[in-house]
Amino acid sequence: MRPKLFIHCATLLLALALPCWAHADGVIMPGMEWLDTESHPINAHGGGVLYHDGVYYWYGECKGDFTYRSPGVGWDCYRTEAGGVSCYSSRDLCNWTFEGIVLEPDTINTHSDIHPTMVIERPKVIYNEQTGQFVMWMHIDNHNYNKAMAGVAVCDSPTGKFRFIEAIHPNEHISRDMTLFKDDDNQAYLIYSSEGNATLHIALLSSDYLKPTEVYTRNFPDKFREAPAIFKRHGKYYLVTSGCTGWDPNEADLAVADHVMGPYTSLGNPCRGEDADKTFYGQSTFVIPIAGTDQFVIMFDRWNKHDLIASRYIWLPIVFDQDTPSVPWRNVWSPSVRDMHLISY
Ligand code: GAL
Repeated sequence: MRPKLFIHCATLLLALALPCWAHADGVIMPGMEWLDTESHPINAHGGGVLYHDGVYYWYGECKGDFTYRSPGVGWDCYRTEAGGVSCYSSRDLCNWTFEGIVLEPDTINTHSDIHPTMVIERPKVIYNEQTGQFVMWMHIDNHNYNKAMAGVAVCDSPTGKFRFIEAIHPNEHISRDMTLFKDDDNQAYLIYSSEGNATLHIALLSSDYLKPTEVYTRNFPDKFREAPAIFKRHGKYYLVTSGCTGWDPNEADLAVADHVMGPYTSLGNPCRGEDADKTFYGQSTFVIPIAGTDQFVIMFDRWNKHDLIASRYIWLPIVFDQDTPSVPWRNVWSPSVRDMHLISY
């Protein structure tokens, strides 16, 4: 049988063998409901993945069951109660075990920045070798997204209860969609939509990762980029962002730089295939480096603004043509991290 025909048949057989709502062992089906190892839908939106001691930890927004529109807010401000930050662990990127809510909302103090009436979004965790602590940064906001702050929490284990320290305006600037990046030299950076979401700031963090320093750059001024997801390959930094249309999808952009703090040059939309101009109805949140390889998996959220907890996950391998990355759509694929190959069906 010709290889291409064989691959099509294999995809077909696999698709027929799988219930349409499920992820089977060893494969990822972008946009399909994804169940954890206890058969519950994974609730870890706007997430990020930390690799530590052979285990991947997926942290994300734990959305409440009930979606409502924030009263008195003019725009499409759908939300749920903030359920804190959930954590799942995996060794193969396919099978995820629920580790619990690692950052609990504060249900007692109604003035707390992590009270369920607030917004806790896009949590990301990095490990600080010097302090031995796991440091989480996240977007903290109030019900109408006017507060626009960055929150920080710490823990001495990846799955323990994180202690919320504070929410701040980095260098007195507002901060909404954000991510974290730890470079090979252990310097870490907070990357956040600022200046009314018009400009993306990249701030060097202090050596304990708990505060932004005064060193920061302004990127894509007045371009309204959000949902940053960054990775480093062969000494170059690649930054994927979305446009600014709330929960609704738009066209992604991929930019490249020689230094993490920029300047970044746009390479255009990295997505390929049907609905690539709408990021496959998703929005970027993180890029996972596959340990021990120079391969990467990009994570998008496919938001369901009327039922946010039912939002889906789109994870896709990044493909490289020399130094140019792209993200072709795949219905089903396998990371096969054991032998360090990303296999696509
Ligand atoms: C998006 C953002 C999401 C969420 C949403 C609220 O632009 O990327 O994380 O904040 O707005 O409408």
